[in-house]
Amino acid sequence: MTLLEDVSLQEFNTLSIPARAAYFAEVVSAADIERILANPALATLPRLVLGGGSNIVLRGDFPGVVLHIALRGIEVEENGTQRLLKVAAGENWDALVRHCLAQGWYGIENLISIPGSAGAAPIQNIGAYGVELADVLVAVSGWDLNTQQWRRLSAEQCQLGYRTSVFKAAMQDRFIITEIELRLSTEAQPNVSYAALNEVLSDSESVTPESVAEAVAAVRASRLPDYRTEPNAGSFFKNPIVSAGRASVLKQQFPQLVTWPMADGRVKLAAAWLVEQCGWKGRRQGEVGIHPRQAIVLVNYGRAKGAEVLALAEAIQHSVAETFGVSLEIEPRLY
Ligand code: FAD
Ligand code: EPU
Repeated sequence: MTLLEDVSLQEFNTLSIPARAAYFAEVVSAADIERILANPALATLPRLVLGGGSNIVLRGDFPGVVLHIALRGIEVEENGTQRLLKVAAGENWDALVRHCLAQGWYGIENLISIPGSAGAAPIQNIGAYGVELADVLVAVSGWDLNTQQWRRLSAEQCQLGYRTSVFKAAMQDRFIITEIELRLSTEAQPNVSYAALNEVLSDSESVTPESVAEAVAAVRASRLPDYRTEPNAGSFFKNPIVSAGRASVLKQQFPQLVTWPMADGRVKLAAAWLVEQCGWKGRRQGEVGIHPRQAIVLVNYGRAKGAEVLALAEAIQHSVAETFGVSLEIEPRLY
């Protein structure tokens, strides 16, 4: 473990916000975590557990210690057609998806091209194109900062929901994930429930996990900007969820409104549609702007700081609230 001081975080967040960390530790073994936490010089400082930095907004310099999770390793257990994977938190998520696909282990192919680490996947229950982590997650292991013990939490204990989990609620800032366990299968069960996928893969007879992954990667590349050339944090807002009654009133007023029914009877609204209707798509405010192809992706076109990004987000929230009476919640975690 190396402990560095006064480190630039610009390359460690996909919005490319130029902020610095007072301390920065590269965590390469579970023992590193205990060592850092036992260091009296760091004990009272704030902590930021960092994976790929693709879902955070740095409001300013971070005055505490960043624990950059660089744990590596994948173990596989065979059980009939099931493959039980133990994946270290620092493994790259997209590389994991591609590795599994190449091995013929299916279930996460729709989650291809999502940036970030495996350890962060349960935090907001990553999801895309009809699949979410909850569909394959068995358990999560890590260090409980409250009880100061290593623990294994079942998927149920993780309380996964749409873009949320116990790690964004009761256990926020309390658990450092070191490993996730996934249940995959050697039996292909392609999921083409998402409308945009259906359009690309209209010939359903030839649909395979490989063709689904290829289609998802192509749709993503056509819709979402690459953070390496246009720094962003993916969707900046969650899709708002409203009651069925509220949705039907809105639908009468705005017949073009894009909605999805939820299993619990409530209705999810397309935040991108709401933002686009308010005229924000493609607009710029100083060095930040809204991507011309995706109305809920905010892009840092220069060296904008967190405050500038958040000022734009606030202006968008304000106009969506005024026009539709709907409040947009920011998806990335603010530090
Ligand atoms: P970070 O940004 O490093 O951290 C995010 C949060 O998780 C922080 O609060 C951090 O403290 C916490 N955290 C990270 N690792 C750990 C750990 N080991 N233990 C405890 N806490 C931890 N998300 C989707 O769901 N679907 C998408 O389709 C999608 N597309 C995206 C496209 C782009 C271009 C971008 C930039 C982002 C996209 N995202 C998407 C968001 C992002 O990729 C995911 O949220 C991802 O899981 C974040 O991983 P990370 O390692 O970068 O997390
Ligand atoms: N739309 C617009 N204007 C736009 C973009 C989209 O009106 O500029 C409308 C379209 O009608 C489209 C609908 O909004 O049908 C939904 O758009 P899209 O399919 O692009 O998905 P999204 O709801 O914007 C969500 C996730 C993404 C995930 C995709 C695919 C959230 C907050 N975002 O985006 O996840 O990749 O679906 O499943 O749920 C992320 O979380 O960072 C992320 C990128």
